[in-house]
Amino acid sequence: MINLGIVLFIAVTLNFKLCFSACARAEYKIHGECCPTCAPGNHVYWHCTVDTSTTCVPCPVSTYIDEPNGLDKCFSCSVCDTGLGLKIKKNCTRSADTVCEPLEGFYCAEQKKDSCSYAFKHSECHPGQYVKQTGTAFSDTACGNCTEGTYSNGSFTDCQPHSKCETKGLKEIKPGTMSSDVECGKSNPLSIIVGVIVTGLIVIVLVTVFGMKIYYKFKQNRQTPDRGTETK
Ligand SMILES: *[C@@H]1O[C@H](CO)[C@@H](O)[C@H](O)[C@H]1NC(C)=O
Ligand SMILES: *[C@@H]1O[C@H](CO)[C@@H](O)[C@H](O)[C@H]1NC(C)=O
Ligand SMILES: *[C@@H]1O[C@H](CO)[C@@H](O)[C@H](O)[C@H]1NC(C)=O
Repeated sequence: MINLGIVLFIAVTLNFKLCFSACARAEYKIHGECCPTCAPGNHVYWHCTVDTSTTCVPCPVSTYIDEPNGLDKCFSCSVCDTGLGLKIKKNCTRSADTVCEPLEGFYCAEQKKDSCSYAFKHSECHPGQYVKQTGTAFSDTACGNCTEGTYSNGSFTDCQPHSKCETKGLKEIKPGTMSSDVECGKSNPLSIIVGVIVTGLIVIVLVTVFGMKIYYKFKQNRQTPDRGTETK
C-alpha cells in the first residue's frame, strides 16, 4: 500500500513536470524553445527565435504533411502500384497522401486508414462450383459446390439441373457431370441404320406394287382393242 502510494506520487510528479516542460498544443520543441507549428501542407523553413515566429513554406510537388508539424521536410507521396493490384482513388495533395484502391476485379488484402496497401485478384470458381458471392473491392469471390444432379462450369451463379432428354423426346448420349450438362441426341447409330434399311425396303415394295399395277393396266388397255377387233 505504501509502495503503491510512493509510485503514484512519483508518477504524478513526473507527469506534472512533463506537462510544464512540454510545449503548448500548437507548438513544437526545438533547442529547448517552443515554436509555433506549421499548418498541414507546410513544413518549417526557419525555426522560431526569441524575436521571430516559425517560418513555414508549402510542401513541394509530390510531397505532403497531413498534420500540424515542426518538420524540416515533407513526406514523399505514396504510389499506387498496379503490380500490387492498386490504382489511384485520390491524388496526393500537399496536406494528404495519395489514397489507393484495388484495381477492377481485385480486392483489398490490407487497408491502412482509408487507403489500400495491396490487393489480390478475385478468385475464379472451379468447374463443378458456382459463384455464391461475386467479389467486391473488399472481399474475394465465394464459391459453392454443386450437388449431385446439377452442374456449373465455374461462372454460373447457380448450379443448373441436368437436362432430361426423355422429356424432349431425345436420348441421353453422354451422362452429365457436376461441370457439364447431359448430352442429348436424336437416336443412336444402330437405329439410324435400321431406319434407313426399313425405309429402303418400304420404298422398294411401294415401287414394285405400283409398277406392277401400271404394267397390268397397260397390258389390259392393249388387250381390250384386240378383243374389239375380234368381235367386229
Ligand atoms: C490524378 O491526377 C492525374 C493527373 O495529374 C489525373 O489524370 C487523374 O485523373 C487524377 N486522378 C484522380 C482520381 O483524381
Ligand atoms: C467443395 O468441394 C471441395 C473438394 O471437392 C472441398 O474441399 C470443399 O470443402 C467443398 N466446399 C464446400 C463449401 O463444401
Ligand atoms: C460458362 O458458360 C458461359 C455461358 O454458357 C460462358 O459465357 C462462360 O465463358 C463459361 N465459363 C467457363 C469458365 O467456361
